[in-house]
Amino acid sequence: MIRIPVSELKPGMKVAYPVLREDGSVLLNRGVVLTEAYIQKLRELGFQSIFVEHELFEDIAVSEPLRVETRKRVQRILHDTVRRLRRGGGVSYREVLQVLEEVLDEILTNPTTVFYLVQMQSRNDLIFHHSVNVAVLSLLVGKCLNLSRLQLRKLGLGALLHDLGKVRLPEDLLVKEQNLTEDERNLVRMHPVWSKEMIQRNPDYDFLASVIALQHHERLDGSGYPYGLSGEEIHFLSRICACADVYDALTVDRPYRKRFSYAEALEYLMGNASRLFDLQVVTTMVRHIAPYPVGETVRLTTGEIAVVVRLNEGLPIRPVVRVIRDPNGQPLEKPRDLDLMKELTVAIVGTAEVTWEVPQKRSFVFFGGGTGHDSDSGE
Ligand SMILES: [Fe+2]
Repeated sequence: MIRIPVSELKPGMKVAYPVLREDGSVLLNRGVVLTEAYIQKLRELGFQSIFVEHELFEDIAVSEPLRVETRKRVQRILHDTVRRLRRGGGVSYREVLQVLEEVLDEILTNPTTVFYLVQMQSRNDLIFHHSVNVAVLSLLVGKCLNLSRLQLRKLGLGALLHDLGKVRLPEDLLVKEQNLTEDERNLVRMHPVWSKEMIQRNPDYDFLASVIALQHHERLDGSGYPYGLSGEEIHFLSRICACADVYDALTVDRPYRKRFSYAEALEYLMGNASRLFDLQVVTTMVRHIAPYPVGETVRLTTGEIAVVVRLNEGLPIRPVVRVIRDPNGQPLEKPRDLDLMKELTVAIVGTAEVTWEVPQKRSFVFFGGGTGHDSDSGE
Protein backbone atom coordinates (compact mmCIF):
# COMPACT_ATOMS: atom_id res chain seq x y z
CA MET A 1 0.00 0.00 0.00
CA ILE A 2 0.98 3.62 -0.47
CA ARG A 3 -0.22 6.91 0.94
CA ILE A 4 -1.79 9.13 -1.70
CA PRO A 5 -3.04 12.72 -1.26
CA VAL A 6 -6.83 12.97 -1.60
CA SER A 7 -6.29 15.36 -4.52
CA GLU A 8 -4.60 12.48 -6.39
CA LEU A 9 -7.24 9.79 -5.69
CA LYS A 10 -9.02 8.29 -8.68
CA PRO A 11 -12.19 6.19 -8.87
CA GLY A 12 -11.20 2.51 -8.99
CA MET A 13 -8.42 2.74 -6.40
CA LYS A 14 -8.86 0.44 -3.42
CA VAL A 15 -8.70 1.61 0.21
CA ALA A 16 -5.88 -0.20 2.04
CA TYR A 17 -6.29 1.11 5.61
CA PRO A 18 -9.57 2.10 7.35
CA VAL A 19 -10.46 5.78 7.39
CA LEU A 20 -12.28 6.83 10.55
CA ARG A 21 -14.80 9.58 11.21
CA GLU A 22 -14.19 11.82 14.20
CA ASP A 23 -16.44 9.69 16.42
CA GLY A 24 -14.37 6.58 15.65
CA SER A 25 -16.87 4.99 13.27
CA VAL A 26 -15.54 3.71 9.96
CA LEU A 27 -15.97 6.06 7.01
CA LEU A 28 -14.20 3.84 4.48
CA ASN A 29 -13.09 0.34 5.28
CA ARG A 30 -10.14 -1.59 3.94
CA GLY A 31 -11.00 -3.06 0.52
CA VAL A 32 -13.54 -0.42 -0.51
CA VAL A 33 -13.18 0.59 -4.17
CA LEU A 34 -13.24 4.38 -4.43
CA THR A 35 -15.93 6.13 -6.41
CA GLU A 36 -16.17 9.80 -7.32
CA ALA A 37 -18.74 10.20 -4.51
CA TYR A 38 -16.39 8.70 -1.90
CA ILE A 39 -13.54 10.90 -3.05
CA GLN A 40 -15.82 13.93 -2.91
CA LYS A 41 -16.83 12.98 0.66
CA LEU A 42 -13.18 12.69 1.70
CA ARG A 43 -12.57 16.14 0.22
CA GLU A 44 -15.60 17.62 2.00
CA LEU A 45 -14.52 16.20 5.34
CA GLY A 46 -11.07 17.69 4.86
CA PHE A 47 -9.00 14.49 4.68
CA GLN A 48 -5.54 15.04 3.25
CA SER A 49 -4.33 11.61 2.23
CA ILE A 50 -5.30 7.96 2.60
CA PHE A 51 -3.65 4.58 2.03
CA VAL A 52 -4.58 2.75 -1.16
CA GLU A 53 -3.53 -0.57 -2.57
CA HIS A 54 -1.00 -0.68 -5.35
CA GLU A 55 0.44 -3.66 -7.15
CA LEU A 56 3.99 -2.36 -6.88
CA PHE A 57 3.66 -2.20 -3.13
CA GLU A 58 1.54 -5.21 -2.26
CA ASP A 59 4.17 -6.37 0.20
CA ILE A 60 4.13 -3.13 2.18
CA ALA A 61 2.28 -3.22 5.47
CA VAL A 62 1.96 -0.22 7.74
CA SER A 63 1.79 -0.66 11.46
CA GLU A 64 0.42 1.95 13.80
CA PRO A 65 1.40 1.88 17.47
CA LEU A 66 -2.33 1.67 18.22
CA ARG A 67 -4.62 -0.99 16.71
CA VAL A 68 -7.50 0.41 14.66
CA GLU A 69 -10.03 -1.23 17.01
CA THR A 70 -8.53 0.50 20.03
CA ARG A 71 -8.35 3.84 18.25
CA LYS A 72 -12.01 3.54 17.29
CA ARG A 73 -12.94 3.00 20.94
CA VAL A 74 -10.82 5.90 22.21
CA GLN A 75 -12.28 8.30 19.65
CA ARG A 76 -15.82 7.18 20.46
CA ILE A 77 -15.28 7.74 24.18
CA LEU A 78 -13.75 11.14 23.48
CA HIS A 79 -16.72 11.99 21.27
CA ASP A 80 -19.16 10.99 24.03
CA THR A 81 -17.12 13.03 26.51
CA VAL A 82 -17.38 16.15 24.36
CA ARG A 83 -21.15 15.67 24.04
CA ARG A 84 -21.41 15.36 27.82
CA LEU A 85 -19.24 18.45 28.37
CA ARG A 86 -21.36 20.49 25.96
CA ARG A 87 -24.38 19.64 28.10
CA GLY A 88 -22.56 20.86 31.19
CA GLY A 89 -21.47 17.42 32.44
CA GLY A 90 -18.02 16.15 33.33
CA VAL A 91 -15.54 13.56 32.09
CA SER A 92 -16.37 9.92 32.82
CA TYR A 93 -12.99 8.93 34.22
CA ARG A 94 -13.86 5.28 34.73
CA GLU A 95 -14.46 4.87 31.00
CA VAL A 96 -11.52 7.01 29.90
CA LEU A 97 -9.06 5.34 32.28
CA GLN A 98 -10.24 1.91 31.24
CA VAL A 99 -9.53 2.51 27.56
CA LEU A 100 -6.29 4.30 28.46
CA GLU A 101 -5.07 1.11 30.14
CA GLU A 102 -5.61 -0.75 26.86
CA VAL A 103 -3.71 1.95 24.98
CA LEU A 104 -0.88 1.71 27.51
CA ASP A 105 -0.73 -2.08 27.25
CA GLU A 106 -0.45 -1.86 23.46
CA ILE A 107 2.22 0.80 23.52
CA LEU A 108 4.27 -0.85 26.24
CA THR A 109 4.24 -4.24 24.53
CA ASN A 110 5.01 -2.86 21.05
CA PRO A 111 8.58 -4.00 20.31
CA THR A 112 9.38 -1.44 17.58
CA THR A 113 11.63 1.48 18.43
CA VAL A 114 10.90 3.55 15.33
CA PHE A 115 7.30 4.57 14.98
CA TYR A 116 4.91 6.73 12.96
CA LEU A 117 1.22 7.53 12.95
CA VAL A 118 -0.93 5.94 10.30
CA GLN A 119 -4.40 7.25 10.93
CA MET A 120 -5.53 9.71 8.32
CA GLN A 121 -6.33 13.15 9.65
CA SER A 122 -9.00 15.54 8.56
CA ARG A 123 -8.29 19.24 8.81
CA ASN A 124 -11.89 19.78 9.97
CA ASP A 125 -11.46 17.50 12.98
CA LEU A 126 -9.49 19.58 15.42
CA ILE A 127 -10.10 17.50 18.52
CA PHE A 128 -10.65 13.77 18.07
CA HIS A 129 -7.97 12.36 15.74
CA HIS A 130 -5.59 14.99 17.05
CA SER A 131 -6.14 14.16 20.73
CA VAL A 132 -5.58 10.44 20.16
CA ASN A 133 -2.44 11.19 18.11
CA VAL A 134 -1.08 13.48 20.82
CA ALA A 135 -1.80 10.88 23.51
CA VAL A 136 -0.12 8.08 21.51
CA LEU A 137 2.92 10.21 20.64
CA SER A 138 3.26 11.44 24.23
CA LEU A 139 3.08 7.88 25.57
CA LEU A 140 5.63 6.60 23.05
CA VAL A 141 8.02 9.38 24.03
CA GLY A 142 7.31 8.70 27.72
CA LYS A 143 8.01 5.02 27.18
CA CYS A 144 11.35 5.79 25.48
CA LEU A 145 12.19 8.01 28.45
CA ASN A 146 11.47 5.12 30.83
CA LEU A 147 8.64 6.83 32.68
CA SER A 148 6.77 4.69 35.21
CA ARG A 149 3.36 3.28 34.37
CA LEU A 150 1.80 5.71 36.87
CA GLN A 151 3.47 8.69 35.15
CA LEU A 152 2.47 7.35 31.74
CA ARG A 153 -1.14 7.05 32.91
CA LYS A 154 -1.18 10.69 33.99
CA LEU A 155 0.60 11.77 30.81
CA GLY A 156 -1.83 9.82 28.62
CA LEU A 157 -4.85 11.23 30.44
CA GLY A 158 -3.63 14.83 30.20
CA ALA A 159 -2.65 14.42 26.55
CA LEU A 160 -5.96 12.80 25.62
CA LEU A 161 -7.96 15.61 27.24
CA HIS A 162 -5.59 18.52 26.54
CA ASP A 163 -7.73 20.27 23.92
CA LEU A 164 -11.22 19.67 25.34
CA GLY A 165 -11.48 23.40 26.07
CA LYS A 166 -11.72 24.01 22.32
CA VAL A 167 -15.35 22.91 22.43
CA ARG A 168 -16.16 26.25 24.08
CA LEU A 169 -14.78 28.18 21.11
CA PRO A 170 -17.15 29.25 18.32
CA GLU A 171 -16.72 26.71 15.50
CA ASP A 172 -16.11 29.32 12.80
CA LEU A 173 -13.16 30.65 14.79
CA LEU A 174 -11.31 27.34 14.58
CA VAL A 175 -11.55 27.19 10.80
CA LYS A 176 -11.26 30.92 10.11
CA GLU A 177 -9.20 31.60 6.99
CA GLN A 178 -8.20 35.19 7.75
CA ASN A 179 -5.85 36.30 10.49
CA LEU A 180 -7.47 36.35 13.90
CA THR A 181 -8.25 39.68 15.54
CA GLU A 182 -6.67 40.48 18.92
CA ASP A 183 -9.92 39.57 20.72
CA GLU A 184 -10.24 36.30 18.81
CA ARG A 185 -6.65 35.37 19.56
CA ASN A 186 -7.22 36.04 23.26
CA LEU A 187 -10.26 33.80 23.16
CA VAL A 188 -8.34 30.94 21.52
CA ARG A 189 -5.64 31.34 24.14
CA MET A 190 -8.21 30.58 26.83
CA HIS A 191 -8.71 26.97 25.68
CA PRO A 192 -6.02 25.42 27.95
CA VAL A 193 -7.71 27.08 30.95
CA TRP A 194 -11.08 25.73 29.85
CA SER A 195 -9.57 22.27 29.31
CA LYS A 196 -8.29 22.35 32.89
CA GLU A 197 -11.70 23.45 34.19
CA MET A 198 -13.48 20.72 32.25
CA ILE A 199 -11.08 18.06 33.52
CA GLN A 200 -11.66 19.27 37.06
CA ARG A 201 -15.45 19.29 36.74
CA ASN A 202 -15.58 15.68 37.92
CA PRO A 203 -14.24 15.32 41.52
CA ASP A 204 -12.37 12.12 40.48
CA TYR A 205 -10.03 14.16 38.27
CA ASP A 206 -6.26 13.71 38.22
CA PHE A 207 -4.43 16.91 39.20
CA LEU A 208 -1.36 16.31 37.02
CA ALA A 209 -3.54 15.59 33.97
CA SER A 210 -5.21 18.97 34.45
CA VAL A 211 -1.76 20.63 34.74
CA ILE A 212 -0.67 19.03 31.45
CA ALA A 213 -3.78 20.37 29.70
CA LEU A 214 -3.31 23.81 31.24
CA GLN A 215 0.37 24.03 30.24
CA HIS A 216 0.42 22.44 26.78
CA HIS A 217 0.88 25.80 25.02
CA GLU A 218 3.51 27.16 27.43
CA ARG A 219 7.03 27.46 25.97
CA LEU A 220 10.39 27.26 27.74
CA ASP A 221 11.35 30.88 26.93
CA GLY A 222 8.10 32.25 28.37
CA SER A 223 6.55 33.04 24.97
CA GLY A 224 3.68 30.57 25.37
CA TYR A 225 0.20 30.94 26.83
CA PRO A 226 -1.99 31.25 28.90
CA TYR A 227 0.40 32.39 31.65
CA GLY A 228 3.77 32.83 29.89
CA LEU A 229 5.42 30.33 32.24
CA SER A 230 9.07 29.53 31.59
CA GLY A 231 11.72 26.87 32.26
CA GLU A 232 11.15 24.79 35.37
CA GLU A 233 7.70 26.32 35.89
CA ILE A 234 6.50 24.02 33.10
CA HIS A 235 6.07 20.42 34.23
CA PHE A 236 8.13 17.82 32.35
CA LEU A 237 5.00 15.89 31.33
CA SER A 238 3.49 19.13 29.95
CA ARG A 239 6.64 19.56 27.85
CA ILE A 240 6.15 16.10 26.32
CA CYS A 241 2.53 16.90 25.51
CA ALA A 242 3.57 20.27 24.03
CA CYS A 243 6.01 18.64 21.58
CA ALA A 244 3.54 15.94 20.57
CA ASP A 245 0.84 18.59 20.09
CA VAL A 246 3.01 20.79 17.85
CA TYR A 247 4.29 17.83 15.82
CA ASP A 248 0.77 16.58 15.12
CA ALA A 249 -0.75 20.04 14.53
CA LEU A 250 1.94 20.99 12.01
CA THR A 251 1.29 17.93 9.86
CA VAL A 252 -2.30 18.98 9.12
CA ASP A 253 -3.36 21.65 6.62
CA ARG A 254 -4.64 24.83 8.23
CA PRO A 255 -6.56 27.65 6.56
CA TYR A 256 -3.49 29.87 6.96
CA ARG A 257 -0.73 27.41 5.96
CA LYS A 258 -0.01 24.19 4.09
CA ARG A 259 0.80 21.12 6.13
CA PHE A 260 4.38 20.31 7.08
CA SER A 261 5.77 16.96 6.03
CA TYR A 262 6.64 14.66 8.96
CA ALA A 263 10.31 15.44 8.39
CA GLU A 264 9.67 19.18 8.40
CA ALA A 265 7.65 18.95 11.63
CA LEU A 266 10.60 17.22 13.31
CA GLU A 267 12.93 19.87 11.84
CA TYR A 268 10.75 22.58 13.34
CA LEU A 269 10.96 20.98 16.79
CA MET A 270 14.72 20.52 16.46
CA GLY A 271 15.21 24.10 15.33
CA ASN A 272 13.41 25.32 18.44
CA ALA A 273 14.76 22.80 20.94
CA SER A 274 15.97 24.37 24.20
CA ARG A 275 14.39 27.72 23.25
CA LEU A 276 10.74 26.68 23.00
CA PHE A 277 10.78 22.92 23.51
CA ASP A 278 12.50 20.55 25.91
CA LEU A 279 15.75 19.30 24.34
CA GLN A 280 15.51 15.81 25.85
CA VAL A 281 11.95 15.37 24.55
CA VAL A 282 12.84 16.63 21.06
CA THR A 283 15.95 14.41 20.91
CA THR A 284 13.84 11.39 21.87
CA MET A 285 11.32 12.20 19.16
CA VAL A 286 14.00 12.57 16.50
CA ARG A 287 15.54 9.24 17.49
CA HIS A 288 12.28 7.32 17.46
CA ILE A 289 9.83 8.95 15.01
CA ALA A 290 10.23 8.15 11.33
CA PRO A 291 10.61 11.39 9.34
CA TYR A 292 9.66 9.38 6.24
CA PRO A 293 7.05 6.79 7.29
CA VAL A 294 6.21 3.62 5.38
CA GLY A 295 4.14 4.39 2.28
CA GLU A 296 5.58 7.91 1.84
CA THR A 297 6.79 8.98 -1.62
CA VAL A 298 10.23 10.59 -1.48
CA ARG A 299 12.90 12.10 -3.70
CA LEU A 300 16.45 10.79 -3.40
CA THR A 301 19.76 12.65 -3.79
CA THR A 302 20.15 10.77 -7.09
CA GLY A 303 17.05 12.56 -8.41
CA GLU A 304 15.10 9.31 -8.38
CA ILE A 305 11.60 8.97 -6.87
CA ALA A 306 10.99 6.16 -4.38
CA VAL A 307 8.47 4.91 -1.84
CA VAL A 308 9.45 3.98 1.72
CA VAL A 309 8.79 0.26 2.16
CA ARG A 310 10.43 -0.59 5.49
CA LEU A 311 12.02 1.23 8.42
CA ASN A 312 15.42 0.45 9.86
CA GLU A 313 15.40 0.19 13.64
CA GLY A 314 17.89 2.57 15.17
CA LEU A 315 18.22 4.83 12.12
CA PRO A 316 14.79 6.23 11.20
CA ILE A 317 16.20 8.67 8.65
CA ARG A 318 17.59 5.84 6.44
CA PRO A 319 14.78 3.40 5.63
CA VAL A 320 14.53 0.84 2.83
CA VAL A 321 12.97 2.48 -0.24
CA ARG A 322 11.63 1.16 -3.55
CA VAL A 323 12.84 3.25 -6.48
CA ILE A 324 10.05 3.71 -9.01
CA ARG A 325 11.24 6.50 -11.30
CA ASP A 326 14.61 7.44 -12.76
CA PRO A 327 16.13 10.95 -12.43
CA ASN A 328 14.38 11.98 -15.66
CA GLY A 329 11.01 11.13 -14.19
CA GLN A 330 10.58 7.99 -16.28
CA PRO A 331 8.95 4.98 -14.58
CA LEU A 332 11.40 2.12 -14.07
CA GLU A 333 10.44 -1.09 -15.78
CA LYS A 334 11.64 -3.01 -12.77
CA PRO A 335 11.45 -1.03 -9.52
CA ARG A 336 14.35 -1.88 -7.21
CA ASP A 337 14.75 -1.79 -3.45
CA LEU A 338 17.47 0.30 -1.88
CA ASP A 339 18.47 -0.08 1.77
CA LEU A 340 19.68 3.37 2.73
CA MET A 341 21.38 1.88 5.77
CA LYS A 342 23.74 0.13 3.34
CA GLU A 343 23.74 2.56 0.39
CA LEU A 344 25.41 5.36 2.26
CA THR A 345 26.00 7.60 -0.76
CA VAL A 346 22.25 7.97 -1.32
CA ALA A 347 19.91 9.86 1.00
CA ILE A 348 16.34 11.18 1.05
CA VAL A 349 16.02 14.84 0.07
CA GLY A 350 12.37 15.25 0.98
CA THR A 351 8.86 14.12 0.20
CA ALA A 352 7.77 14.09 -3.44
CA GLU A 353 4.45 14.46 -5.18
CA VAL A 354 3.66 12.04 -7.96
CA THR A 355 0.55 11.88 -10.10
CA TRP A 356 -0.98 8.42 -9.85
CA GLU A 357 -3.27 7.04 -12.53
CA VAL A 358 -5.61 4.10 -12.68
CA PRO A 359 -5.43 2.52 -16.12
CA GLN A 360 -8.16 0.37 -17.60
CA LYS A 361 -6.52 -2.84 -16.48
CA ARG A 362 -5.72 -3.75 -12.91
CA SER A 363 -2.27 -2.22 -12.74
CA PHE A 364 -1.46 1.37 -11.85
CA VAL A 365 0.94 3.61 -13.71
CA PHE A 366 2.32 6.92 -12.64
CA PHE A 367 3.26 9.87 -14.78
CA GLY A 368 3.76 13.62 -14.65
CA GLY A 369 6.43 15.68 -12.98
CA GLY A 370 7.33 14.84 -9.41
CA THR A 371 7.84 18.06 -7.56
CA GLY A 372 9.80 18.75 -4.44
CA HIS A 373 7.46 19.21 -1.49
CA ASP A 374 6.81 22.84 -0.91
CA SER A 375 6.77 23.65 2.73
CA ASP A 376 5.67 26.56 4.82
CA SER A 377 7.45 28.42 7.55
CA GLY A 378 7.01 27.56 11.22
CA GLU A 379 4.07 28.74 13.23
FE1 LIG B 1 -4.22 23.30 22.28
